Amino acid sequence: MLKLNTLAVDASARYVIAITSVEELESALTFARTRGLEWFVIGAGSNLILASDFSGLIIHNQISGREILSDNGASVVLKAGAGEVWHDWVRYTLRQGLAGLENLSLIPGTVGAAPVQNIGAYGEEIANSLLSVQVYDCDRSEVRTLSAAECEFAYRDSLFKQQAGRFVILSVTFKLCRYGAPGGHYDFNLSYQPLADLTAKTPPNSPQDVSDIVCAIRREKLPDPQQIPNVGSFFKNPVIDVSHFERLHHEYPSMPHYPAQKGVKVAAGWLIDQLGWKGYRNALVGIHEQQALVLINHGGGRGADILALAQQVADSVFKQFEIQLEIEPVVLGGSSVPGHSSSRF
Ligand code: EPU
Repeated sequence: MLKLNTLAVDASARYVIAITSVEELESALTFARTRGLEWFVIGAGSNLILASDFSGLIIHNQISGREILSDNGASVVLKAGAGEVWHDWVRYTLRQGLAGLENLSLIPGTVGAAPVQNIGAYGEEIANSLLSVQVYDCDRSEVRTLSAAECEFAYRDSLFKQQAGRFVILSVTFKLCRYGAPGGHYDFNLSYQPLADLTAKTPPNSPQDVSDIVCAIRREKLPDPQQIPNVGSFFKNPVIDVSHFERLHHEYPSMPHYPAQKGVKVAAGWLIDQLGWKGYRNALVGIHEQQALVLINHGGGRGADILALAQQVADSVFKQFEIQLEIEPVVLGGSSVPGHSSSRF
């Protein structure tokens, strides 16, 4: 049986179609429309909670391809098919000495999923190196190219999330720097404190060096979904208003916090950790021992079990801190069926 979700939830779909081209996508959409089926596009299912069985069509995006579009020596524009595995793509760019994606190493999922939630880690976001996204616009039934600005990227947010179901991502184009190229200049982003600490004594010499360190940090802090089923951070880091923050900060001076556009962003993992949830487990699901922001399936847990635990966690955080946590991954089925479709991966 195909388990197209990294939480390893046992749920079934009425139909599953793998697509490798825009023509196959159009056929799949026609198949769904003529039968009145809901449809939903997935990549690797690494940011997806299957809350129930799905009576519609799952479209598994496997559009592959890697292409260098231009290279002036110092900067390179290159394109990846939506179905490419994200980390394999990052490694491909690193092998060519290209810089820009090294901080985003080892993030599970596909290239096509990455812009949807504007993947971010260790001080970087895909928005910083993305040039454009080629999409199939289901409202207009045509292929379009959206510039980075048109994608409306924000923290774990994008046009693709805001207008779920409208766009299917076909490929993503990046502009990266050739590290050390004559006339070129590139500064590594070591702003994330653990990354700065680890590189203080021996500064990195290449994007590959930074990637190696990022991979080491991730392996230490975050469970490998192949071994411990999970979807990464389960909640977004919430943004609270300044007066709320000042009250909490007075009471909890060690509370990690970051500047945000409106208010102050606080670490959801820290809030959850304060309440003793880290390492919690019931018969089926639990919370990772090293990262309170990561919910895990111990085997046999269904989407509803995970969501019930998430609700308990969110309720306890609200009770203690008056902060409402927001779920980060996409929920498919259950009480939150996303309309006729969604292009979240
Ligand atoms: N913290 C705790 N206890 C915990 C977890 C975190 O005290 O159990 C504290 C840490 O000590 C730190 C702060 O909270 O002071 C933030 O923790 P961390 O640096 O581990 O990052 P995060 O805010 O929990 C975010 C992203 C991750 C990304 C890391 C690194 C979100 C929702 N999550 O996590 O992204 O890898 O920063 O940049 O923004 C993902 O989206 O799936 C993901 C893993």
